[in-house]
This record gives sequence, C-alpha cells and structure tokens, in this order.
Amino acid sequence: MPVQETDDKVIVTFPNDDTTSVTVLKYGATVISWKVAGEEKLWVSEGAHLDGSKPVRGGIPLVFPIFGKLKDESHATGALPQHGFARNSTWEFLGQVGEKLPSVQFGLGPENIDPELYKKWGGGKYDFTLIFTVTLHDDALKTDIEVENTGNEAFDFNWLFHTYYKIPDITDVLVNNLTDEKCFDQLLAEEYIEKSPVVQFHEEFDRIYKSVRNDKYIQIIDKGKVLMTLERVNLPDAVVWNPWIKKSEGMADFLPKLGYHNMLCIEPGHVSDFVNLKAGDKWSGSQICETHHDIKQQSN
Ligand code: BG6
Repeated sequence: MPVQETDDKVIVTFPNDDTTSVTVLKYGATVISWKVAGEEKLWVSEGAHLDGSKPVRGGIPLVFPIFGKLKDESHATGALPQHGFARNSTWEFLGQVGEKLPSVQFGLGPENIDPELYKKWGGGKYDFTLIFTVTLHDDALKTDIEVENTGNEAFDFNWLFHTYYKIPDITDVLVNNLTDEKCFDQLLAEEYIEKSPVVQFHEEFDRIYKSVRNDKYIQIIDKGKVLMTLERVNLPDAVVWNPWIKKSEGMADFLPKLGYHNMLCIEPGHVSDFVNLKAGDKWSGSQICETHHDIKQQSN
C-alpha cells in the first residue's frame, strides 16, 4: 500500500520499495519522518509532542502566516503566537494525487483553526485556503505550498518550511553557497553580508539569509560528502538555525539535550518581508530536498 491513512497520520511509501517513505502527522501537516533506503533524513526530538498538544520539535513544521513573533501589535499578524497557526492546527487529508511519484495533499482553512487563535489574525476577517503537497521521489522529497486568498480583503503573510535535518555532528558540517548573501543575524539583531567562504558551526546560530537567488543550491556537506542539496522555488529567504547548548536546555521538548549535535535547520521561506495577497489571488512556493549530488560551488 503506497498510501496508508491512520487516525493521526499518513504514511507514503515508494512503489516497490518500502524502505523509502515519508510520514505526515495531520497535526500541523508536519512531516515527521522521511526515509531513503531505510535511512532517516530528518531530526525529530525524543521529547517532541506528537499528540497535538504542541508544535512538533523536529521534522518539517509549517510556518504561516507569521515567522517568529512580530513586535508591532498594530499589524494584522501582531497578536499571533510565534510562527503563527499552521503548525498547531490539524489539517484535513485531501488524498493521494500522484502514483508513480507518490504524492499526497493536505488542506487548511479558517474552519480547521481554533477560533480564538484564528481571531488573532486581523480579528478573524481573512478567508484563505492552504494546500500542502508532499511528493516522494526515490532519492528526494518535494514539499509545495499554495496559498489562496478566498476572501474579499488582501492579507499579508510569511511562509516558511522549518526543516530539521538529521546530521552526524554539527561540528563537522558545512553549508555552502551563502557567501556574499545579505543576512540578518537574529542573535546580534544586525544585518551584514556573509563573508565566510562556507558556513560552519561552533556556537548558537540563527541567521536569515535574504533574497538568495532560487537558482542557487544550498548544500549540507559532511566531511567532504554532500548530505543534502536544497532547491527552492519562489522562496527567496533561508533561515539557518542551530540552538546549541543553552537554547536547547531552555526547550523542554528538545531531547536529548545533546541533540543539537545531530540537527541543523535550513528553512526556506518568504520571511524578510510579507507577501501581500490580493482577494482571489494565489501564491505558491516549494522546497526540494535531494540526497544525491556532487558539490556545486556557486558564487553571486
Ligand atoms: C527558527 C528561528 O526558525 O525557529 C529561531 O530562527 C527560533 O529564532 C526557532 O528559536 C525555533 O522556534 P520555536 O518556536 O519552534 O521554538
């Protein structure tokens, strides 16, 4: 069975190869496992809540309509909690939409959101439909999002795929092709041009790389070997995050405490400004995570 639905999740396996699979929790439409030839590619905390009581710490949480927490209360997204409401609402499973490359869809609209939470977005005046599509390739995973404004008023939103990759050790990995990109360092609250030839990790790291051309690959390289190549469609920004020791200690659902060694978030999105979507319009974006590739060194 390539697609299996249970009460709380959907499991998709590659045709004739049940060692390659993806599992999506209906809560948050959060991808909580992606295996290629039996090997898990995503990091999920051992303390993650998978019962719908809290956004999942790991996998691919979906961030909409606000990234982070806006300080400006007067903005329509100003009252929303950190990272919005998509990751903590239960999405509707819409079914299978592709067979050779098995593909499944999930939908979210105002009716799926806790009414108190929904009201925090512009007082509850926006009408929208989100369609999230997950497509399994033999050596890649594609996630697509489409946002449609089905109401009468334009709205502003951010989108982000908050992808947690599983890695052997953070102190050994490099991320390439971000040199000379503009970045906002969330820890320093400063914007500057990234000058490192490759990004390396030796302390807490939280940067938004802005307007990175979509023909640029972002690669996670472990001791000279490409672990993951990321492609993006219509997603200009990429957040790179590792909480390191102190921040992990402060997150009750982050386990084991040394787990920061084995995870790295590279999060493609549209977050450094808002997408403004007019009534009746649609917007879409995609991330493609590929497991086989040579090192692609690109400059600006
Ligand atoms: C990242 C942000 O995307 O998400 C970080 O850049 C944040 O600043 C992290 O700490 C985790 O957020 P949360 O809400 O899942 O704890």
